[in-house]
Amino acid sequence: MSIAYFQEERIFKLNTKATSYIIGVIDEDNFLGHLYYGKKLRSHQVSYLGRINEHPFIPSKNNRDRVSFMDAFPTEFSSHGLGDFRESCISIRTEKGCSAIGFSYRSHEIINGKPELAGLPSARGTKESCDTLIITGIDEPTGIEMKLIYSVYKELDVITRSVKVINNSPSVCYLTKIFSACLDMDNQDFEAVTLHGSWARERHIEVAKLAHPKLSVESVRGESSHHDHPFMALKTRDANYDSGEIYAMHFVYSGNFKIQASLDQFGMVRMVCGIHPQDFCYRLEKGESFQAPEVVLTYTDQGFNGMSQTLHDLYRDHLINGIYKDKKRPILINNWEATYFDFDTEKLLAIAKDAALLGIEMLVMDDGWFGKRGSDNCALGDWTVNEEKLPGGLTYLVNEVNKLGLKFGIWFEPEMISPDSDLYRAHPDWAIAIQGRTAALCREQYVLDLSRPDVIDYIYESIAKILRSANIEYVKWDMNRPLADLGSAYLKPECMGELSHRFVLGMYELQERMMKEFPHILLENCSGGGGRFDPGMLYYSPQIWCSDDTDAIERLLIQEGTALIYPLSCIGAHVSTCPNHTVGRTTPFATRGLVALFGTFGYELDITQIPDEERMMIPEQTAMYHKYNDLIRTGDYYRIASYRENRFYDLAGVVSKDKSEALYIFIQVMGRPNHRSRIIKLKGLNPLFDYRIEESGEIIAGDSLLNGGFVIPQLNGDFQGKLIYLQKI
Ligand code: DGJ
Repeated sequence: MSIAYFQEERIFKLNTKATSYIIGVIDEDNFLGHLYYGKKLRSHQVSYLGRINEHPFIPSKNNRDRVSFMDAFPTEFSSHGLGDFRESCISIRTEKGCSAIGFSYRSHEIINGKPELAGLPSARGTKESCDTLIITGIDEPTGIEMKLIYSVYKELDVITRSVKVINNSPSVCYLTKIFSACLDMDNQDFEAVTLHGSWARERHIEVAKLAHPKLSVESVRGESSHHDHPFMALKTRDANYDSGEIYAMHFVYSGNFKIQASLDQFGMVRMVCGIHPQDFCYRLEKGESFQAPEVVLTYTDQGFNGMSQTLHDLYRDHLINGIYKDKKRPILINNWEATYFDFDTEKLLAIAKDAALLGIEMLVMDDGWFGKRGSDNCALGDWTVNEEKLPGGLTYLVNEVNKLGLKFGIWFEPEMISPDSDLYRAHPDWAIAIQGRTAALCREQYVLDLSRPDVIDYIYESIAKILRSANIEYVKWDMNRPLADLGSAYLKPECMGELSHRFVLGMYELQERMMKEFPHILLENCSGGGGRFDPGMLYYSPQIWCSDDTDAIERLLIQEGTALIYPLSCIGAHVSTCPNHTVGRTTPFATRGLVALFGTFGYELDITQIPDEERMMIPEQTAMYHKYNDLIRTGDYYRIASYRENRFYDLAGVVSKDKSEALYIFIQVMGRPNHRSRIIKLKGLNPLFDYRIEESGEIIAGDSLLNGGFVIPQLNGDFQGKLIYLQKI
C-alpha cells in the first residue's frame, strides 16, 4: 500500500515513487494538519514540522489565542471565518445566514484503486496503479461533513485531490465557495510559473516572484479560457529545466477556476485551487452532496523536464482514453484555413483527391456545412446538412471521400445557438440570458443553457443523428464564445448560482454520451483555438486544437507552454499556408512541418492551390510523421533551449523510454551574421550507449553528446529548422 496510517502518532503517510505527503491529526480538536510534501522520506515521524510547541500553541494549551493558532497552523483544508484569515477553501451559508465553517477529523478509510467522481472527468486509476485515502471531517455545530479524497499513484509522482461536501445539517444550505485542494508550506524563495495568453497566443510561460500581494490565475469566462490556464507551479529560484524543486497544481475542470498562491505574515505559502467562487452558489438540500472537481498535484526536484515528464505520463496513461489512446492518429487535412465558409462538395472532393495522392489520410469538413450557414452569423443549433452546398448530403460526400481512401471528419459547435436559427426561433428560452436584460452577443451567438436536461437531449440527438447518418470517424467539437448574462429560464432563482457549473457538467455529459455511442470516433476538442485546452477536456478527447494561430514561429511559444504540462500527442498542430493568416509571416514549408511534427501533425491549407515545390514536400512530411510519431507520442520530453528566453533558437526533444532512440527539433528563428556553429548538450540519452546520427551516419558516444554536446551548424536564413534523429547502435 502506498498509504499508511500510524495510529499512535495519528499520521497519514502517502508515498509515490519518489515523493511523500504527510498529514497529521492534531490536538484534542482533531485539526487536520499538513506536515510535509516533497522528496520521499523514510520515516513518518515528522510531527515536529507542525510546530505546535511554539507560539501561538495549540488550543488545548492556549485557547485564549485560538484565532492566532488558526491563522498560523498549516492545514489540509482551510476553514472559513474561524480565525484563519488566509484564503479559505470553503464557505457555506446555512439557514441561520452565517457562513463560517471548519472541519475536524472524524474518520478515514484507505482503499485500493481510485474511485471515479460522479459526472466529472478525473484521472483514471486501477487497483494496480493507485491507492486512495478518504478522510471524513465534520463541522460539529452544523453537522456538515466533508470528505477529502487523495489518490496516490504508486509509480508516478502524482497525488490527486478532491473534496465532497455532504449536507448533513438539519436544513438546506448554500455552498458559496469550494476549492478542491490546499497546500500550506514555508516559502522557499518561490517563483510562480503560470501560462498566460489570449486568442491566438495561448499558454505562454510566465514566471513571477511570489511576494506578499496574492498571485492568482483565474477564469470567470465559463471555460478554462485562452487567457489564464488552470495550472500553477511554485518553483524554487534555482530551479531550471533539469534540476530544482517544483510544486504544481493542475485542475481537471473546464469551467471557471481559481488557483492562488499567497505569502503570509510568517513567510508561509498557501496555494489553493478550485472552482472560482464568483457567481457560484450551490443549493444543497438536507442529505444532498456536492462533488468538487479534481486537482492533480505533483512535486519534483528534477526541474521542469521532471515535471513535464510526470504530467505527460499521467495524462497519456491515465487520462486520455478510447481507441486512439495509444495509437497513431490519421493525418488529417482540415478545410478551415483553405476555404473558410466558401466550400461545396466539389471543392472538398478536389482537396481530398490531392490529399489522397500525397499521403494524407482524412478530410475534415469544418464550420459551414449545416443549416443556412454561409458566415459566422447564423444557424448554430440547426444541425441539418445544407444540401445546396453538399448536394446528395453527407452520404454522397463521405462515400466519395472514402472511395479516395480517406477517412472523413466533421465540425460541430454543439453548445451554441445563433439568434438567426430555427432552433432559437422555436426555443428562445434555451439560450443563457437574464430575463429583462438583452443578452450580449459574441460572434453573433448565444450559449445554450446546458443546465436543462431537455436541451442536452435535443442537442445530443441532433448531433448523433448526423453521426449515425454516414461513416464519420472524427469530430472537431468547437466552442467559440465565453459565458455571460448568466441566467436560466429553467433554474429557480435560488439555484441560479449553479448555472456555470451545471453548464460544464452538461457539456461533459454530452461528450460522455457521444463517446459511448461512437467509440470509434477520434474526438478533437477546440474552443476558438485553445480556449478550453485543459485536463477536463482531455478526459474525453485524446487531442485538443491548440491555437488558431498556425504560424510556425508563434507556435513555438504556444507549444512550448502547452508541452510544459501536456503530452505532444494531444497538441493539435497543422501545417498551414503562408503568408500566415493570423500574423502574415512567411516561413519555409519544411519548418512548418517540423513544428507541427511535435504535435498531432496535419494540414490546414488549400492543397489544390499551394506551389508545386510545397506540394512535393508533403509525401516526405507524411513519411516523416509515420516514421517518428510512435517516438513522439510515447517518449520522454526534454526542453533544451527556448526561443522565449534566448530570442534566437528553440530546441526540444523526445527520447524513447529505453533511451534507444531520440529525436530533437532545432528551429533557428533568427539567422545571425558571422557566427560559428553551436554546440548544444543533448538531454535524456544513456551515457553508456553509442548513437548513430541519422543524417551524417556518424557514431557518437552518449556521454559525449550529453557532456560535450552536438554541433549544429548555422543555418542560412531566418525560420530555418533541423531534425536530429539518433539511434543506439
Ligand atoms: C474556431 C476554430 O478554432 C477554428 O479552427 C475553426 O473551426 C472555426 N472556429 C470555425 O468557426
